[in-house]
Order: sequence, then C-alpha cells, then structure tokens
Amino acid sequence: MMTRFKSLLLSLWLGHSQGLSVSPVTAINSNQLQAEKSKLLDLLQATPKEDPVLADPLTKESLTISTTSPFLGGSRYSRQTFTLQSPSNTYRGTSGTFLDLLQPAGEDNSTESSLFKTVVPLIPPPLRSAMAGMNDEYIPMRDLFTSPSVSFAYERGWRQGFRAAGFPGPDQEAEMAMAYFAPSMAKSDDKVLVDMSCATGLFTRRFAASGKYSRVLGCDYSDSMLLEAGRRIRAEPSLLTSKSTKLDLIRLDVGRIPMKDNSVDALHAGAAMHCWPDLDAAMSEIYRVLKPGGRYFATTFLSSYFGNLQRAEGGASGPSKQAFQYFGSVEEIRFLLVSGGFQRENIVIEVLGNACVVIRCEK
Ligand SMILES: C[S@@+](CC[C@H](N)C(=O)[O-])C[C@H]1O[C@@H](n2cnc3c(N)ncnc32)[C@H](O)[C@@H]1O
Repeated sequence: MMTRFKSLLLSLWLGHSQGLSVSPVTAINSNQLQAEKSKLLDLLQATPKEDPVLADPLTKESLTISTTSPFLGGSRYSRQTFTLQSPSNTYRGTSGTFLDLLQPAGEDNSTESSLFKTVVPLIPPPLRSAMAGMNDEYIPMRDLFTSPSVSFAYERGWRQGFRAAGFPGPDQEAEMAMAYFAPSMAKSDDKVLVDMSCATGLFTRRFAASGKYSRVLGCDYSDSMLLEAGRRIRAEPSLLTSKSTKLDLIRLDVGRIPMKDNSVDALHAGAAMHCWPDLDAAMSEIYRVLKPGGRYFATTFLSSYFGNLQRAEGGASGPSKQAFQYFGSVEEIRFLLVSGGFQRENIVIEVLGNACVVIRCEK
C-alpha cells in the first residue's frame, strides 16, 4: 500500500502515468507549464536583435540590442537595461532613462567636467565666459542645455519666449512639420521619424501621440533634457503602451548620428540648429541618415534676434553671444544645407515674424 502511494506521488510529480490513470487535464497543464517556462526564459534572456535604424556612432556598424529583464537580480519594478553592441563598441541604456549613444560605455565624462557643465549656466554671464575659458571641454552652445535648471525651465516658460521672434508655438509648429512629412511617410513601410535635439520632448510627444509614425526617436545631447523628457512621457502612459508607435529616447551628438545610412523618413529639428557646435558635420549627418525622398523640417533664429537679446542683456558678453550660432541671412542657411548634400532646388526657406526661420528640404 505504502509503495503504491509513493509511486502515485512520484508519477504525479514526474507527470507520467506509469500505469495509473492521469487525466488529460494534467497532461495539458504539464505542456502549458513547459510553454510558460520557455516564455519566461525567453523573457529573461531575450535574443539579441539587430536594430533596423540605430548604428555605432563611431563606426556606423550595425547595433545588436540585448535586454536584461528586471526579473533578473531585481524586483519587478526595476528597470530593463539594454546593451547595444557593434563589432567594435558597447553602449548602454535603461528603460527609465535613454539609450546612451554619445560614447561607448565606460568612457563617460569625468565627474569634474560634468559638474562644471552643470554649474556654468548658473554663473552670471560676465563671469561665465572667463570660467568657460578655463575648461577646454566646455562648449557653450551645446552645454548650456545640460543644466538641470535649464531643462526644468524649458517647458515652463523658456520656450514660450521664442514667440517674440515669430515662432508660432509648439502645437502649430508640430502641425506644420507633420504636414510636410506626410508625402514621404505615405511612401514608407516603416515610417521612422527622428526628433533631433528634442530637449524635454515637447515635439517628440506630439509626434508619438499623433499615431502617424511607426517609430519616433527623441534625440538630444543633454542627459538632463532627456531625463525631463522621460518624466513627461511617463506622465502620458498612452505614449508608452501604444501598439502602433515605438518611442525611444537617445543621447547623441548630431555631428555623429548613431543611425544607419538611408534609414530615416523624416527628421525634425525645432529651434536647434543655432545650438549645434559643428553645423557642417550636423548637416552631412542629417543628409546621410535620411532615405532618398526623406524630408527635413527645421526652425531656427536669424541672428537679428540675438542682437536684440544681447542689447537686452547689456552687451556682447551675454549668454546668447556665447551660446549660439549666428545666421545672418537665409542665403547663409541655404549654403549650409547645400554643403550638407541637399539640392538647391529641393530647399524652401521662409521667415516668420522678425527672426523665425522655417526650413523644409527633401533628400
Ligand atoms: C533650444 S533647444 C530646442 C528644443 C526643442 N527642439 C524645441 O523646439 O524647443 C536646443 C537643444 O539642442 C540640444 N543640442 C545642443 N547641442 C547638441 C548636439 N551637439 N547634438 C544634439 N543636440 C544638441 C540641446 O541640448 C537642446 O536641448
């Protein structure tokens, strides 16, 4: 009797009948168990996949992304971590922050330099230029926006100030960009949109919410801007649960875009070109990543706006003098786009109000 009981227990445990009747339900459960087990294993050790758009910023080789599940070594509330691997370099990211494709993992800026960049925007302008001279790595037009205080203020008033130059405001600007992108999107199967220098994601969120694109990549140099963008995206959960649009935040340098040649249908750069330290590199890179027929929509300022700003700030030592590129004329901007690779006849530039330049061009 005891032996038969032991054998029953053993057969139930092993899931074999061994001459005893085991109901079909038990057999199905065992199969289901196996399936669940293998799903769980897949989840824990997701197979690395090549990203169709992203590339190593240094070598432009393809990147394979692997994901470490939050279940491994953490609670279910912890973040997924991503490893992006090219044959030459490794990059990292987390689901709660961004994919860092500015530099290979482990080659972060020194703490001293990061601290310097954070503190400089808080220093009064006349002292700021003297201090910036002490640190060769500080590039004002790029690093002004790495300050958490600027990132905090950006959508809380800073951006509204652009109306004085003739900017219509984010809602209308987003509509203008999406209308221009529509024909290139209509021809595309994968509908990839890049929001370059997205800052706090004010346009990234509008583009993603529109449901018009399969993938939206919000990209910026500034980690504090991207963290603020992430916070604002998480406050709109529908952006993260959308089945139609994949949304990524990427840290990068526009002068070394971590994307494949001919991989992007449309690239938006709102109020950003005047902030890019190497405009020639940026324009060649934008041209390179756009698909043939892909479209670029950008807004920027004519330098007359900064002249007014400088006078208001009390002279040429103000932060605008240090922080921005100057575009004296529309012709200057057209020349820049042509140098980047765009055909002159595919470029349309208009000026709104005093100094808001709107650029539309097709590759
Ligand atoms: C004035 S904000 C524009 C934000 C937003 N697109 C808009 O329309 O309001 C300029 C942005 O350019 C980013 N930026 C500066 N240098 C950059 C670079 N080298 N690569 C990418 N982004 C850069 C800054 O971090 C900042 O977030």
